[in-house]
Amino acid sequence: MKQIKVQINGKAISGHEGMTILEAADQGGIHIPTLCHRPELTPSGVCRVCVVEVKGAPRLVASCHTPISEGMVIVTNSQPVMEARRAVVELLLTGHTGSCVVDSEAHSCELHKLAAELEVGQPRFQVKKPRFYPVEEANKSVRRDMSKCILCGRCVRACRQIAKKDILAIAYRGFATKVVVDCDGSLNKNECIDCGVCIDFCPTSALNKPAKGVL
Ligand code: FES
Repeated sequence: MKQIKVQINGKAISGHEGMTILEAADQGGIHIPTLCHRPELTPSGVCRVCVVEVKGAPRLVASCHTPISEGMVIVTNSQPVMEARRAVVELLLTGHTGSCVVDSEAHSCELHKLAAELEVGQPRFQVKKPRFYPVEEANKSVRRDMSKCILCGRCVRACRQIAKKDILAIAYRGFATKVVVDCDGSLNKNECIDCGVCIDFCPTSALNKPAKGVL
């Protein structure tokens, strides 16, 4: 495989063709925060938490799906980069506060951990019409609380790519965008093999195991 040399935060790093900036940084021991990305899944680049500066590029790029090229000069921690990441997390938090902040699942919420890592405080913005969906417990293995969903799409990709099912999809547009089953139906269906992969990949506990005794 063709070797490629790049510079990240002034450090020379050697990678190979097809490697992303995120993978090269990781190889060089440089941490870039991520949210919609997981190494087991194909990158989608939807959240923009992993943005970095690439010298000569007109705008910040998502490191999780941008391949390295020979001589690339990358900065992962400049002020514009940090400001962009904080803005993304603040906007996501704006629509994600509520019970998650106080309930027992908050400690495992990746968004809240990321906010702490990036020192993002209480969001300055207010949502006029918060997205609210009733909790669904129709499936014996998966409890869905879509009000907590941040639309990272990890569950959709995990169901398709790891469980080899295609049960979840992203539907609607704008504020109405939502992870759905079929035509926005219930998850109570035979094709769901109750593998729990979608739960493992959900960063916010929008998908979780049902409380004991619910069904
Ligand atoms: Fe790269 Fe979400 S982690 S865009």
